[in-house]
Amino acid sequence: MSRACGKIILFGEHAVVFSKQGVALPVQNFFTEAAMQKSDYFSCSPDRILSEQEKQKLNMLVEFVFSELNLREDVQVSIKSTLPMSSGFGSSASLSVALIRECSRFFRLKLSKNMINSLAYRCESIFHSTPSGIDNSVIAYEKPVYFHKKPKVLELEKPLEFVVANTGKRPDTATVVKEVRRKSIIKDYMKILSEIGSVAEQSKKHLIKGDNEKVGMLMNKNHLLLKRLGVSSPRLDLFCEVAVQNNAYGAKLSGAGKGGNMIALVDQHSRENIMKELSHLSDQVIFIRVSS
Ligand code: PMV
Repeated sequence: MSRACGKIILFGEHAVVFSKQGVALPVQNFFTEAAMQKSDYFSCSPDRILSEQEKQKLNMLVEFVFSELNLREDVQVSIKSTLPMSSGFGSSASLSVALIRECSRFFRLKLSKNMINSLAYRCESIFHSTPSGIDNSVIAYEKPVYFHKKPKVLELEKPLEFVVANTGKRPDTATVVKEVRRKSIIKDYMKILSEIGSVAEQSKKHLIKGDNEKVGMLMNKNHLLLKRLGVSSPRLDLFCEVAVQNNAYGAKLSGAGKGGNMIALVDQHSRENIMKELSHLSDQVIFIRVSS
């Protein structure tokens, strides 16, 4: 059996699609597991009920991975996942990485992390037409990643603590990415995307040092830029306000936006209260600790 974690984007969502900078973190609270065993015929069974479209995508993914790795298909593949789908925790990238790791284990391919990451990137195109590559990277390396066209693992001096709250259903990533792409031909919008990239770039040194004040300030700035880009929502704005009013260092939407997750940087003093206040508004509030 092989396992892959989830992820959350801390800085630079949307900007990374336009080759600007971003930062993503591994989330160990959730995982995907893939297990293979010998069989006379091929089968792939997920542990949850999938729509016809999701089934089709899962089959395409497995076929693609097997054909890229030149594998025989007389195996049974079972997939188990605790990752909520379309919620910004990287369910598709986690599925791809778990499956590729399991192929590597079962067929003794000894794939390196770089090889797993590069194949997982190509798999991501099955789910999202123009993936930036940040999701598959953070999950393949299971470390905080600074991403500028390619991933660079960040070695944090201190662990970072976050509260993540889900604001509710959101459009799928590809739909929001397409909307932003349409807007990006307007000069002002491209300027916003560049500013987001620059915020992500500035965050790198503060993240490594564990300077919560500076990281939080940049998170607030990033949220305002995403709001100007048109990918926030009234609930995302409200969740950020609640977190900051209750002493979070900073807060922002995370992922494609228009719903989905809000992420707030907290510490041991503010964490409980922030979680309590957000629990009045959301039925999915989680605590995440990230270290290198
Ligand atoms: O919503 P998520 O967590 O799938 O993140 C999407 C991040 C984008 O930058 C909007 C797209 C991408 O491919 O990086």
